[in-house]
Amino acid sequence: MSDVLVSPSLLSADFANIQRDVEMLNESKADFIHIDIMDGVFVPNISFGFSVTKAVLKYAKKPMDFHLMIINPDHYLEACVDSGAEIISVHFETCNHLHRTVSRIRELGAKAGVTINPHTPVTVLDSILPHIDLVLVMSVNPGYGGQKFIGTTYEKISQLRNMADRLNPDLIIEVDGGVNLETGAKLVSAGANMLVAGNFVFTSPDPPATIESLKNL
Ligand code: DX5
Ligand code: ZN
Repeated sequence: MSDVLVSPSLLSADFANIQRDVEMLNESKADFIHIDIMDGVFVPNISFGFSVTKAVLKYAKKPMDFHLMIINPDHYLEACVDSGAEIISVHFETCNHLHRTVSRIRELGAKAGVTINPHTPVTVLDSILPHIDLVLVMSVNPGYGGQKFIGTTYEKISQLRNMADRLNPDLIIEVDGGVNLETGAKLVSAGANMLVAGNFVFTSPDPPATIESLKNL
């Protein structure tokens, strides 16, 4: 059994029953709760904002893993921390001064993550890798839950794990989009050690058991 971290995405929860779904995650083997913030500009969809995440914080007993799919993420880093963010991941594609942004995230006391879209090669991360805690590799185009996994991600994970062995051996490699038991197993053997799962968890008949099966990959 590996020690893969599992971060179910609240994007696939029942928004009319968020408290119930957060309490389900509290009782499950999930390591984090993945919070997808979308602005309708960087991605073609809007999810929820900080009034919702602050309400979630009242019930969440798991640490929160924020994925910012927004332009100008620097404006919202403190709001993430105020909403309980333990990890904040910003998109490489949205940051002109990425080193400044990840330094600020760490100053605020959170772990700093950089996210890359499916079209972005892992090689662009070479210089930033020693300065961050996590890379979030998108295995779908961000914006929606329930999309089909992009198969070229496996090779990106192997390449990134090789880079991390050289530049940052403690790096967490998280993958987001289309994760299920089959894709998850291949991702873990390629070198990923944190899996996001939205649709697969929340549409399953027994979400806590599904989370446990991902933990056991
Ligand atoms: C997609 C989000 C994901 C999403 C994953 O833009 O970043 O976190 O919730 O959903 P699934 O696991 O359903 O592909
Ligand atoms: Zn996400």
